[in-house]
Amino acid sequence: MRILVLHGPNLNLLGERDPKIYGSQSLEELNRQIEAHARRLGVEVEFFQSNHEGALIDRIHGARRRVDGIVINPGALTHYSYALRDAIEAVGLPAVEVHLSDIHARELFRQTSVIAPVCLAQISGKGAQSYVEGLERLLTHLKAKQRT
Ligand code: DQA
Repeated sequence: MRILVLHGPNLNLLGERDPKIYGSQSLEELNRQIEAHARRLGVEVEFFQSNHEGALIDRIHGARRRVDGIVINPGALTHYSYALRDAIEAVGLPAVEVHLSDIHARELFRQTSVIAPVCLAQISGKGAQSYVEGLERLLTHLKAKQRT
């Protein structure tokens, strides 16, 4: 199985950006942690980060026949990008939305996700563990689908 892990705007600055909220781990370190966990689970992962909505959408379109599912941290696009939402829905790939911080315990604007309705689950507030759990949630879904 192959999973696409997408990181949205500003997540390239992990480690530097608001470490009290997002932790001190860099994006590369985070990806390595996810990759190590994916290896244990026996799945392949590919990573993509962009600060551009269109680039994320193009990557989702390009992955539609290549991957089995998506783990996505859409960053601030979570809260308003109907285009990203539609892209996930359009390709029909199962997706899990993840966040490092607890978006439900922050500013009001962060408490809304326009992405969540097209995802299997939303995992928020667990730091790197959000991605790990997101991957596991996706795999549980994919394995159940394989059995049917
Ligand atoms: C975030 C939460 C978003 O509100 C924010 O804009 C981000 C990161 C998170 O991982 O906690 O860029 O998605």
